[in-house]
Amino acid sequence: MISNSDIIFQRRSIRKYKSRKPVHKDLIDHLIKAGMSAPSARNKQPWHFVISQNPKTLDILSERHPYAKMLKDASLAILVCGDKELDDNESYLAQNCAAATQNILLATHACGMGAVWLGVYPREERIKMCREVFDLPQHIIPVALISIGYPDEDKPVNDNFNQEKVHWEKWQG
Ligand SMILES: Cc1cc2nc3c(=O)[nH]c(=O)nc-3n(C[C@H](O)[C@H](O)[C@H](O)COP(=O)(O)O)c2cc1C
Repeated sequence: MISNSDIIFQRRSIRKYKSRKPVHKDLIDHLIKAGMSAPSARNKQPWHFVISQNPKTLDILSERHPYAKMLKDASLAILVCGDKELDDNESYLAQNCAAATQNILLATHACGMGAVWLGVYPREERIKMCREVFDLPQHIIPVALISIGYPDEDKPVNDNFNQEKVHWEKWQG
């Protein structure tokens, strides 16, 4: 386990994986629990998580998502979805699911695994593709796909801090 805020600062998108070795269910449960610990508007927690470890499904996703080739070597994918029956505000649904997605990325990194966020919402063709692959009902909106595997790349820590994007009290400080 990596400590505290190091998890935030060290996390990088990991797109190279060692093998498709299965991930223990306890670890997957831990990642989903991290997702469900995210903040959500009016605490509606309007999310669902579809987990796939099936190599055939991962291959199909890698071919049908334009930027997801790494799924060919991933151990699993998690599709983070919003439920319109739990919150009919689609913008909030997406924001809530984004928070859950980031929590899963951080928890994955903390466990020594590698992950990358694969954008789905609001791209209609990717939403349609996920609906087909995962048989989603109409009230379920796929927001983000997360590719997870045993890391086979070591990326440097990025310092993204940019003073020009910081505004104290008012825009023109
Ligand atoms: C909304 C969103 C969509 C993204 N979609 C993709 C994607 O489709 N494929 C991919 O390889 N990375 C994707 N990424 C990952 C970004 O490319 C990555 O976070 C960014 O380059 C910064 O690198 P880092 O995560 O290593 O800090 C996405 C990230 C976000 C937040």
